[in-house]
Amino acid sequence: MLPSRPARAPVVALLVALLTALLTALPVAATALVPAARAADGRAGRDASGTREAPREVSGGRLDWGIKSSFQSYVTGPIAQGGWELQGGAATIGGSRFRFHSAKGSHAPGSGAFEAAFSGGVHFTGHRKPDGSHELDLTISRPTVRVAGGAGTLYADMTSKAKGTGEVTTATQVPLAALDVSGVDLRGGGTHVGLADVPATLTEQGAKAFAGYYTQGTALDPVTLSADVLASADRAASPSASASPSTAPEEERTSKGGFTEAVVDWGVRRTFREYVTGSIAQGSWKLADGAQDGGALFRFPHGKGAYDAGSLDAAFAGTLRFTGRHLDLTLGGVRVAVKDGRGTLSADVTGGGRAVAKGVPLVTFDASRIEEKDGLAAVAEAPAKLTAEGAKAFGGMYQEGTGMDPVSLAVPLDAKAALPPLPDLGSGASAAPSPSPAEPRTKSAASSSASGSASFPVVPVAAAAAVVVAAAVATFLVTRRRRATSRATQ
Ligand code: HEM
Repeated sequence: MLPSRPARAPVVALLVALLTALLTALPVAATALVPAARAADGRAGRDASGTREAPREVSGGRLDWGIKSSFQSYVTGPIAQGGWELQGGAATIGGSRFRFHSAKGSHAPGSGAFEAAFSGGVHFTGHRKPDGSHELDLTISRPTVRVAGGAGTLYADMTSKAKGTGEVTTATQVPLAALDVSGVDLRGGGTHVGLADVPATLTEQGAKAFAGYYTQGTALDPVTLSADVLASADRAASPSASASPSTAPEEERTSKGGFTEAVVDWGVRRTFREYVTGSIAQGSWKLADGAQDGGALFRFPHGKGAYDAGSLDAAFAGTLRFTGRHLDLTLGGVRVAVKDGRGTLSADVTGGGRAVAKGVPLVTFDASRIEEKDGLAAVAEAPAKLTAEGAKAFGGMYQEGTGMDPVSLAVPLDAKAALPPLPDLGSGASAAPSPSPAEPRTKSAASSSASGSASFPVVPVAAAAAVVVAAAVATFLVTRRRRATSRATQ
C-alpha cells in the first residue's frame, strides 16, 4: 500500500506516481505474474494441457473487511451515537476491521475462478429513538466473494431500515461491492488463495442500504481474504473440514440423560481480547487441554454431565490463558449450570501465579430459549452478564451486570448429533492474533461490544492480579480518553 502522507516535493510525487503505476501493474495475489484468465463461468477451467479440470473445494478461511471506516466512525460518533455488535462468530481484527470466517466455496485451478462464502455478520445501530428502537439499523452478514473472468464482486445478506419511513428491507446475497481485481491471477493448483487489500466500491444495490448518503462507486474499505483449497483427494476424505470432530465414539457421546461431548463457546469479551493483543498489554492468548480457538470465541469441549428438560449441569475440558504486560489470567475447569431458564458459566480462575479460585460463577445468561433440535439441546449466542462473584473475581474492575460476550451451548442428546462448527479461520492465520504495538489506522475499537454494553473495556483480571494490572488499566483509560477526544474534535 502507498503511504497516505502527501508528497512534499515534486520528485517525491513523481516517485509515488511511478510506484503507483508499478503496483497497479502487479497482481494483488501473487500466484503468477500474468493477467487473470477470462473464465466463461465460475465452475471449472482448463489446465495448462487444455483439459477440463473440476473445481476444488474451498474450506476454511477468513475475510477481513472494515466495510467503510467513515461509516464506523459516523455510527459510533456524536451524530448517530450508536454502535455495532458482532453476530455469528464474526470477530474484530486490528482497530477497524471485521473478520468473517469459515470460507466455503470453490476454486477452479485452470481458470482461476474463485468463490467463497464466509460466515458471521455485523449489526449497526444508531439514532436511538425514545422507544428504544433505532432509526439506523443495518445488518451486513455472510459476505461472499466471487472472482471470475477478470471481475470481482462481494455479495452479502443485508437488512436495512429506510430513513424516514422506517421500512425494513431484507435481501440475501445482494451485490454490495465491486472489487477491482485487475491484475489478480488466481490460476494454479495451490492449497491456498489469498487476496490482499483489494479496492472495493459500492454497487447501486449496495448504496440503497445507506439511506442515500453514499452513491454507486463510493470507495469502501479494501478487502483482504485468505482461504484454504482442498486437494481433490481431500474432498472425499474431508466432507466438512470446519465441523468440529468429536473424538469419542458415538455410543459414548450420550447415555440416558447424560452426555460426554457437549461444548460451550464463549469469547469472554471482545474489548478484552483487543486489550490483551493491543498496544497496552501487548500480549496474546493460548488454549490448552483441548480448548479450541474460533477467533472471536473459545470452545471448551468434551462437556460431561446431565441434561433433563432444559436443566443442565456440565463440566467442560480446556484452559484459556491470557498473558501480557502485567497480565496473566487463566480460566479452566469451566462448568455450566442451567436451571429455570437461567444459565451460569463458572470457571477456576488463576491470576498472576496465585492460588486458583475454584468454581467462580463468572456470567449468567438467558437459557430460557434452550432449543432441542437435530439431536442437540442448544443455546445460541445468549447475552451474558457478569455476576457479583464474577465482578469480585475480576478484581472489581468490572461492575456486576456488565455485558460480556454471549454464551453458546450445544449438548448432544442423540449420539449422531453434529455439533455446530467452530469458526474456521483457515490455515493461513494463527487464530490468536499476535501483539500489535500500534494500530495501523486511527479508529479505535470504541464501538459497542458484542454484548452491546458500554465501549470502555474494563480489564477483567483475577482478584489476585487486580493490583498488578491497575497501572496498565490507568494507562489504557488515559489512552482511550485521548483517542476519544481526538476523534470528537476531528
Ligand atoms: C434520524 C435519522 C438520521 C439523521 C438525523 C442522520 C444524520 C446524518 C448526518 C448529519 C450525517 C452527516 C455526518 C457527517 O457529515 O459527519 C449523516 C451521515 C450518514 N448517515 Fe445518517 N442520519 C440518519 C439516519 C441514517 C440512516 C437510517 C442511515 C442508514 C444506514 C444513515 C446512514 C448514513 C451514512 C452512510 C452517512 C455517511 C457517513 C460517512 O461515511 O461519513 N443515516 N447522517
